[in-house]
Amino acid sequence: MEKKKTLYIRTFGCQMNVHDSEKMLGLLHEEGYTATDNPLKADIIIFNTCSIRQKAEQKFYSDLGRIRSFKKKKPLLKIAVAGCIAQQEGLNILRKAAHVDLVFGPQNIHLLKSFIKNGTPRVATGENPDIALYDLPVKREKGVRAWVTIMYGCNNFCSYCVVPYTRGKERSRPSRNIMKEIRDLALQGYKEITVLGQNVNSYKSDLDFPGLLREINRIEGIERVRFVTSHPKDLTDSLIAAISDLSKVCEHIHLPLQSGSDKVLKLMNRGYSFEEYLKKVKNLRKRVPGIAITSDIIAGFPNEEAEDHEDTVRALRAIEYDGIFAFKFSPRPGTKAAQMGDDVTDEVKTDRLLEILEIQDGITGRKNKNLVGSVQEVLTEGRSEGRADQYTGRTRTNKIVTFDRVDIPPGVLILVEIVGGRRHSLDGNPILS
Ligand code: 5AD
Ligand code: SF4
Repeated sequence: MEKKKTLYIRTFGCQMNVHDSEKMLGLLHEEGYTATDNPLKADIIIFNTCSIRQKAEQKFYSDLGRIRSFKKKKPLLKIAVAGCIAQQEGLNILRKAAHVDLVFGPQNIHLLKSFIKNGTPRVATGENPDIALYDLPVKREKGVRAWVTIMYGCNNFCSYCVVPYTRGKERSRPSRNIMKEIRDLALQGYKEITVLGQNVNSYKSDLDFPGLLREINRIEGIERVRFVTSHPKDLTDSLIAAISDLSKVCEHIHLPLQSGSDKVLKLMNRGYSFEEYLKKVKNLRKRVPGIAITSDIIAGFPNEEAEDHEDTVRALRAIEYDGIFAFKFSPRPGTKAAQMGDDVTDEVKTDRLLEILEIQDGITGRKNKNLVGSVQEVLTEGRSEGRADQYTGRTRTNKIVTFDRVDIPPGVLILVEIVGGRRHSLDGNPILS
């Protein structure tokens, strides 16, 4: 019998990349490959890269250098570089790293098959306007939750961001393709769907985004629907109404603010003022009681002065997010912000970032403690990764709850009394019905 062919994928970056890796696995699975978690055993190694900040990029290049020697031991090994660095660097990667065989960007994942069969193309970084029309096979880990892409690319051109350059123009999938994929997932036993897009709430095909959520809400077997990432400018009243009305759409929105200073927001080309953002947050909280709101913040954007940073600090205190991701500004080649001059020193960026994180930690901790004594609906996910004897699930507001009941299988909705609030999770006692 022929030996099983194996592939190893190392994924950097966002959920979009994690899901793209599931598509690469799906494509190669159809060619007879199975995944391995040992790169030394693999016939193909794929790096699915991220260029959102410099740090992620440096990490990739150091990992890529480290596997150069693998080819000496295994001359038939193929090494591929995918994702956003692949898209930006293209042929340069082959020039810099002669041990790489294939470079392909996020819009050309479908060409992986041709490369495996024919050895061509070696570099695939063209714009692909048809990307939203493909239904690529997806190989997901068995489980309770699944991601489904509903739109590709981004037209917003926030001045710091490489995404519009690497993932191209916005394109939405036809709703019938999305619905078919989700119905199949329901039949396979998945309970929670997260629809994905770089700018998910600007989805527009035969339906708009609230319309699509209404359709998905009707699919039998799916218990919960989530969506990431939303842009504040596209958070319409009709979307707020959909979150409020639709029983399966969870009470959580990731709504990146980026900065609390109007001056900086303008330089970032975000398309809203802090007041406008705050108004939407208030509206959300009025129409969807208990909704969790999370955010992304960038510290030390070009021209950010102490008072702008103070505006961000004030914004965090005023909004009281359930959680944030915060980053130091990192100039990315080709973006507008990279030409503005990276004038905030690294020391100041670090100070501002630490202050932001500390303030938010206090808020998150307090909010989690406030939940003690409440009863939450939890969708169980199985064994906890971090805490060996514990089991986990999530609330509708996307908070992780751990509990120590072994007899509850993954994929069921249970009621849990919250008995402890930690910084990044809650402790719970399942309530027997
Ligand atoms: N520098 C720092 N953070 C960035 N992000 C995007 N580009 C940059 C950059 N050049 C952050 C934003 C975005 C999140 C995914 O990454 O906060 O919302
Ligand atoms: Fe980047 Fe802005 Fe598009 Fe988000 S909305 S992917 S931050 S350009």
